[in-house]
Amino acid sequence: MNKKLIKEVKRSFKSQFKTDSLIVFSPGRINLIGEHTDYNDGFAFPAAINKGIALAISKSDSNVSKACALNKNEIYEFNTENIKALEDGGWRNYVLGVVAELQMLGKHVGNFNSVFAGNIPGGAGMSSSAALENSFAYGLNELFELGLSKHEMILVSQKAEHNFAGVKCGIMDQYASMFGIKNSALLLDCRTVESQPYKIDFKDYKLMLINSNVKHDLSESAYNNRREVCEKVSELLQIDALRDASKEELDGIIGDISVVDYQKALYVINENNRVQQFSEAIKKDDIEALGDLLYQSHEGLRKNYKVSCDELDFLVDRAKENPHVIGSRMMGGGFGGCTISLVKKNEFKKFKKEVSKKFRAAFEKDCSVYSVKLSQGTQVVK
Ligand code: GLA
Repeated sequence: MNKKLIKEVKRSFKSQFKTDSLIVFSPGRINLIGEHTDYNDGFAFPAAINKGIALAISKSDSNVSKACALNKNEIYEFNTENIKALEDGGWRNYVLGVVAELQMLGKHVGNFNSVFAGNIPGGAGMSSSAALENSFAYGLNELFELGLSKHEMILVSQKAEHNFAGVKCGIMDQYASMFGIKNSALLLDCRTVESQPYKIDFKDYKLMLINSNVKHDLSESAYNNRREVCEKVSELLQIDALRDASKEELDGIIGDISVVDYQKALYVINENNRVQQFSEAIKKDDIEALGDLLYQSHEGLRKNYKVSCDELDFLVDRAKENPHVIGSRMMGGGFGGCTISLVKKNEFKKFKKEVSKKFRAAFEKDCSVYSVKLSQGTQVVK
């Protein structure tokens, strides 16, 4: 499928700009567990997937740069001097953001032409934005020989998201997209920004992603708000981040914070512990424990962290009713997007059919079901 995508951008680039291009593929990501822990310096368990963004890019002699979003059939022409975020700029802000953040590092980015296309379902919470940022960071780094390491590139991508898209995201998405390893998930320490790969084999089970196909409006402001709460509680606890807190310590300041802030901080502490338990359960092939941790994670995201929504809760509840689904939770920032579930391989089709039918009956719209392969991170395609 990606071959087709790569061919498309290559061909379109050639027909528009009459030269060859450098091709970069940058994947989206899933996250097994560890949600909203990354900006708390905690642990997460993401993996790059076999869907992503293909970018064709080359230097240009003209005094403007061009970016073409093939899926949308939109071209944007811009000057690399005095870059500012656009109001409602959509995908343009990610491109501009990466260029601007490279310049902030004192790097000289010359003019370029580019065409990109993707096959990550939009709004699914599989980080099409991180894939896009990384593709440009990587492509520009190669093209203009900027000499950045992958670690430096993901910080550029993250800052583009902060300063040009206005989302104060953690590092998980950009990390997973850049550093993904085939057939593996990465136990990521978001403080050191280092990870340990775990080969993933869920035996009789396999991962199912169900996209609710909704993205509720408040997601960005609510995301930034959650981060603020975590920072406020950390400050009260006089620690750098909630990663350093225990439930006992949090209980010590219970009188100084609101009940809802307490619940949110407690969620982060518990979720962070769950990531560790999850990695232990993988080592022991304890599929039941894995599933149970997924359900616990969802419960916390729904009731304490309050980032779920009716559609996601509905999907997780249907999963719970089915004995062949061993665990399920919402994935990513929340307020829409996907759930991730562990489903018995030989019951996959049946559950897919059943849950799709029930979803349609309840919400009068369709959900979409995907299976994904865990794949390599951002790379140049020869
Ligand atoms: C979004 C952000 C990530 C992370 C997740 C929640 O995907 O971009 O940094 O915080 O939400 O785990």
